Amino acid sequence: MSEVKFKDFGKIVFFTGAGMSAESGIPTYRGKGGMWEKYNYEDYACQSAFDRDPEHVWEFHEARRQAVADCEPNRGHQIIAELVQGNENVSVVTQNIDGLHQRAGAKQVFELHGSLWRVRVDALGLIEENFDVPMKTYQHSSGAYWRPDIVWFGDHLRSDVIQAALDKIKGCDLLVSIGTSGVVFPAAQFPIEAKLKGATLVEINPEETAMSEIYDVCLRGSASDMLASML
Ligand code: OAD
Repeated sequence: MSEVKFKDFGKIVFFTGAGMSAESGIPTYRGKGGMWEKYNYEDYACQSAFDRDPEHVWEFHEARRQAVADCEPNRGHQIIAELVQGNENVSVVTQNIDGLHQRAGAKQVFELHGSLWRVRVDALGLIEENFDVPMKTYQHSSGAYWRPDIVWFGDHLRSDVIQAALDKIKGCDLLVSIGTSGVVFPAAQFPIEAKLKGATLVEINPEETAMSEIYDVCLRGSASDMLASML
């Protein structure tokens, strides 16, 4: 296939993972130096850990919020935000919880795995944005603990978010997957849905991934350089 350029497509979905934010200084999850090499998710990223010791789980998430707050969106986030701005045919479906797409100015961001910047109390049906670093309190006035509105291991993805994301994915003619290893389901299945509907699929990743073979074009390089090459 000849070079893929954004201008040749009408409906575009950017499908992003942790590698999208790597150039901002945020560690990915897998591979050398990855988050899950350093931390055991069973201690920090599942409901049972939170039920056992919410303060301990909050320490981990507080540190992540602090680390992300200290980072800036990178050139890749900015390129995407400029394409999304004012164009409802361009959207972002992300597995990232860092909010950097939005900080770069992108609207229409579907967060499959939730956000570091939202908290909720399930028992009270409460959910709120919270950008305090550090958090002023981890407890609601009722005494119940806020929990991060993040999809932890063993949690289900929100069905309304899945539906909205899949509507965009099934309707796009170009899907650009950026910085994801393609091993976490159901998210990893989403690009296949676009392919089944006839979309062109581009993978941006310095390395081959578990899903590389489904892509029409694989661009081996960093998110920002490869996105810039598609302008
Ligand atoms: P991974 O850590 O599994 O994969 C990150 C990918 O980014 C790898 O394939 C890297 O090769 C690639 N990468 C690294 N630097 C890059 C760069 N500068 N430009 C482009 N790509 C780069 O992260 P995800 O696939 O996002 O879930 O992980 C999926 C989910 O697993 C996450 O959303 C998280 C995690 O457990 C939850 O927390 C629910």
